[in-house]
Amino acid sequence: MLWGNGQRESHRAAKRGAMSSVTGLHAPKGLEGVVATTSSICYIDGEQGVLAYRGYDIHDLADHSTFEEVCYLLWFGRLPKPEELKQLKRRMAEERKLDAAILKSLHQVPKHVPPMDMLRTLVSELSYYDPEYNKNDHDANVNKAIRLTSQIAMLVADYDRVRKGKSLVEPDRSLSHAANFLLMLNGKHPSPTAERALDIALILHADHELNASTFAARVTAATLSDMHSAITSAIGALKGPLHGGANEAVFHILEAIDAAGADPIDYIKGMLAQKKKIPGFGHRVYHTEDPRATHLRAMSRDLGKASGQGKWFDISHKIEEFVKVDKKLNANVDFYSASTYHTLGIDVDLFTPIFAVSRVSGWAAHVIEQLNDNRLIRPRAEYLGPDYPNQYVAIDQR
Ligand SMILES: CC(C)(COP(=O)(O)OP(=O)(O)OC[C@H]1O[C@@H](n2cnc3c(N)ncnc32)[C@H](O)[C@@H]1OP(=O)(O)O)[C@@H](O)C(=O)NCCC(=O)NCCS
Repeated sequence: MLWGNGQRESHRAAKRGAMSSVTGLHAPKGLEGVVATTSSICYIDGEQGVLAYRGYDIHDLADHSTFEEVCYLLWFGRLPKPEELKQLKRRMAEERKLDAAILKSLHQVPKHVPPMDMLRTLVSELSYYDPEYNKNDHDANVNKAIRLTSQIAMLVADYDRVRKGKSLVEPDRSLSHAANFLLMLNGKHPSPTAERALDIALILHADHELNASTFAARVTAATLSDMHSAITSAIGALKGPLHGGANEAVFHILEAIDAAGADPIDYIKGMLAQKKKIPGFGHRVYHTEDPRATHLRAMSRDLGKASGQGKWFDISHKIEEFVKVDKKLNANVDFYSASTYHTLGIDVDLFTPIFAVSRVSGWAAHVIEQLNDNRLIRPRAEYLGPDYPNQYVAIDQR
């Protein structure tokens, strides 16, 4: 049933009188502005463009920290001491392995399947071989956070090699998480510049409060289901083009502009004329520059210049300038990550899986936090359907 606003409001008013009401409040579409939980993990000020993990500003973390240190911060609530960080890195290295059955499944995935779909299915399968399969306590979930973070990076890198008919590359215990990912993906040690660029991208993507995928993870965890189920739910939510899938959509646009030799602004004007949304722009929470975009813009520019592939930044920058003025929309995290990842030699359909390679750290932190003080997450819907009681009519009399 499609209603105009007036009809909907009078229907609501009538219902409030006739039927028992659920709540005095109307549900804002998309739960915009609703505070749905308490959390001590991530602080966002959408007006000032502030993002902080456990109070630490994202700019400080991007400039000085590493992805492993951020994982420690998210899972344990504070920055690690040197020995604690060393121990976490050792544990992550130990968990960089996949069961033979998982490797077999990886080879059996039909080659047309995008890596994000492979990830959704195989992360679920990882649970079968998890040594703490039946455990859902705090310590087991911290172990699963470490394990899943190591394994998800392996799944993404290994799948890319399998689908290209290449042999798998063993991880190197002496390398960081970012360097290991690039090694397992490309079969050669990354340059320090490439390693640091990916490390910063992983830091920037690690957590973002109650975004759609994290909310999905918390809802699943709150039923007292398990960590793997929560992370699988989150991956399904991340895949969509309104969420993590936007970074792939951005690059398809850059490619289309480049291939057609089109003017970037004309191309975007054409999309807007067709009422299409421009991927990589707009945000539910930020009404100013997304602080993650600040770093990714600089990385896209610097990596582009250094690799002789500056055209992707140039096209992106023209689009950004236009959309900012014409639509009053700012670039979000996904806009410049597209050109950054491409310049690092990463295939387009790996962009969203790489988001998951990082975000698993935040998802796991939220699952752990949810279970530390759990209550089932079960909101209500404002009912707008036919009046109750609706007279049931036998099938032969309809
Ligand atoms: C991120 C996003 C889903 C937030 O959505 P939201 O808070 O629900 O905001 P809405 O989609 O309701 O947009 C509000 C208005 O801005 C417009 N708008 C928002 N993002 C836009 C975009 N990327 N391109 C063009 N117009 C956009 C909408 O069309 C709408 O205009 P209207 O009021 O005239 O109808 C949205 O900005 C979007 O779809 N962006 C593109 C996808 C993307 O980059 N996602 C990654 C987010 S990190």
